[in-house]
Amino acid sequence: MRSKVTVVGAGNVGATAAQRIFDRGYADVVLVDIVEGLPQGKALDILESGPVIGSDASIVGSNGYEETADSDIVVITSGIARRPGMSRDDLLLTNMRIVSSVVAEVVKHSPSSILLPVTNPLDAMAQRAHQVSGFPKNRVVGMAGILDTARFRAFLAEELSVSVSSIEAYVLGGHGDTMVPVVGSTTVGGIPVANLIEADRLEEIVQRTRDGGAEIVNYLKTGSAYYAPSASIVQMVEAILFDKNEILPCTALLEGEYGINNLFVGVPVKLGASGVVEVVEFDLTEDETAALKQSADAVQELVDVMASNEE
Ligand code: NAI
Ligand code: 2OP
Repeated sequence: MRSKVTVVGAGNVGATAAQRIFDRGYADVVLVDIVEGLPQGKALDILESGPVIGSDASIVGSNGYEETADSDIVVITSGIARRPGMSRDDLLLTNMRIVSSVVAEVVKHSPSSILLPVTNPLDAMAQRAHQVSGFPKNRVVGMAGILDTARFRAFLAEELSVSVSSIEAYVLGGHGDTMVPVVGSTTVGGIPVANLIEADRLEEIVQRTRDGGAEIVNYLKTGSAYYAPSASIVQMVEAILFDKNEILPCTALLEGEYGINNLFVGVPVKLGASGVVEVVEFDLTEDETAALKQSADAVQELVDVMASNEE
């Protein structure tokens, strides 16, 4: 029997993630959105690609949650983008309400699922999903670090004319301006990256990574990135469905690890069939530790805004 993956939000990220999962054929997919016809139309279009790409998986679209029952994984991409005149806090609170209502429905129909929040601001939404679901911490794991790290690796590979697969790197912290590309442990074929790229140039690449989301928005103008984000979602889905115990940068609940408590922040985790098997703690330099703490503080501010706006 195939696994079952629900993707909530049939916009750019959700629909592309659903398509990528369907293409691989190992899981049946349910695509959910509040817009009538949108998930149904996209799901049917993707289904009709099956004979061409050779996938026998099923994919259905829905405006409700009956069809999502007993999903193994639920990816949450539902939300709105920031509009002109809207503050960061307005966006935070609007998406908090959307994610809360979605998670409440998901939990009713798939009480044993693993939740994979993607909606921004990501770390705060993961915290909210955990709170509303009442799930154990291993079953709520957010996507952002793989995307940020993929950007860093892509830029380094381009700079050094080497394969992306020769670059080992991690970007930790919150998914925002304070994210922490961990330069100290970034290697290229085993060689520390600082031995290969001059400090000033390396700092430019680090900054480009931090601005990676904005760089795409500046090109697209009416939306944000979705090809790399959806690919990153699929890497997490596969680590879970195939019990890979893969060490990946994901947003997980910290309870003392890296000196951070009761907060969802991006860290390396071992990801397997049960979700977060463990948080992996590796050595950071003093500067990196301070940067991670600063990034966690920025996430905490959002969590505090959510807490003071509880309904
Ligand atoms: P989009 O606007 O294309 O799609 C969002 C979809 O959510 C829309 O189709 C909308 O109708 C749906 N939606 C809104 N409220 C809903 C509800 N209550 N129930 C079900 N569906 C609902 O946006 P896109 O580009 O797909 O991005 C989705 C989210 O993912 C955004 O918050 C974006 O900022 C975030 N994102 C996060 C990344 C990360 O690394 N964590 C990377 C890329 C995007
Ligand atoms: C990104 O980093 C918008 O969070 C999204 O592209």
